Amino acid sequence: MKAKRRVVTSATGERPGLAKRRPTVRRIKPAIAPVVRRAPDIRGAVSSNSAASATSTRISAAPQKPVATAPDVDVDLSVDLGRGLVLANPILVASGTFGYGTEYADVVEVQRLGAICCKGTTLRPRIGNPTPRVTETPGGMLNSIGLQNPGVDAVIAKYAETWAGWQVPVIVNVAGESVADYVEVVRRLEGVPGIAGIELNISCPNVGKGGLQFAIDADAAAGVTAAVRRATDLPLLVKLSPNVADVRPIARAIADAGADALTAINTLSGIAVSPSRLRPLLGNTYGGLSGPAIKPVALRIVYEVSQVVDIPVVAIGGVTELADVLDYLAVGAAAVQVGTAIFADPTLPVRLVDELAAECRRRGLTSFAPLIGTALPKRAAAPSSKGVEYRP
Ligand SMILES: Cc1cc2nc3c(=O)[nH]c(=O)nc-3n(C[C@H](O)[C@H](O)[C@H](O)COP(=O)(O)O)c2cc1C
Repeated sequence: MKAKRRVVTSATGERPGLAKRRPTVRRIKPAIAPVVRRAPDIRGAVSSNSAASATSTRISAAPQKPVATAPDVDVDLSVDLGRGLVLANPILVASGTFGYGTEYADVVEVQRLGAICCKGTTLRPRIGNPTPRVTETPGGMLNSIGLQNPGVDAVIAKYAETWAGWQVPVIVNVAGESVADYVEVVRRLEGVPGIAGIELNISCPNVGKGGLQFAIDADAAAGVTAAVRRATDLPLLVKLSPNVADVRPIARAIADAGADALTAINTLSGIAVSPSRLRPLLGNTYGGLSGPAIKPVALRIVYEVSQVVDIPVVAIGGVTELADVLDYLAVGAAAVQVGTAIFADPTLPVRLVDELAAECRRRGLTSFAPLIGTALPKRAAAPSSKGVEYRP
């Protein structure tokens, strides 16, 4: 369904003392009836593909039982990410792993996705980083694409009309090297039919602050969020970086600056060494680690962030099967993005929509909302909201 603008007023919270806004869940019948099928062995599918066999190292994958369903139970998977961005279901595709959606339209039922986050978009075209740009790692991959993209004007010219005809909302991932960059890109996207929302990729060097990433500094993160908020009425998601000692003050600052939702996480900074051991492997030396290897880190961040903000948190990191989706919902995510696993199996995200519906039916649920936050501390101001749990 197309995103509709409306004011969100719902505020419910199970945990005493914390007015946490839950995503509004509404009863809608899915346009396409979910197909009930047995949970596939994604590990097998992944390991047979070279590009993302990186995702094949799983430690936690327990064999899935066949799902016993009650087909007569109609399951509501819709989720409200704020400012009227209401998704038909909570399964999104992550920026940089699904192109502009059009590339997959022949092989994937893209209209059945919750939303598409397109490749990072900058003011001017970028040719990206020197090659090699990608390498596999145990349980993941490192990439240093360097935000290769044709620039915002070309993105609008080439894709917006197609997106406007789609029912799946397209969220444009925006990157820049200064506040002015971000604001200008967003201004150009404002009011363009087919653009349902903005996801700010703030893991970019801030040239005004000598190359310091916006995402690692609460003031810089809040500054760019507030500036973009002033420039647009579009739903605004801001993407957190895991490359910080404590993400909570940054998440709070971004929420206070007017973000409608947070997405977490972007990739973890890493490097690889070439087989000759004479130099770093990636042309850019540094890359971003993604895939199942980062899931525990992403889970921890979603767990911490969802305790300190009252806007929806969309989880990203190493999702390869339904169990991962359920884990993220348990630690407070309102929705989930699938990234690296798409390289192995582009049909995975749509399958997860069906599997989530089937899981709700198996549990006798008419909506997935009760699955959210079950693993969060029951009392407010738990140690995890103060960051004192991990003592190596
Ligand atoms: C090849 C590649 C390109 C990416 N490009 C972007 C990007 O342009 N903007 C962005 O915010 N995140 C980008 N990401 C990060 C992903 O959106 C996601 O946050 C990260 O990969 C973690 O999720 P995953 O483990 O499911 O892949 C990229 C990731 C990969 C693997």
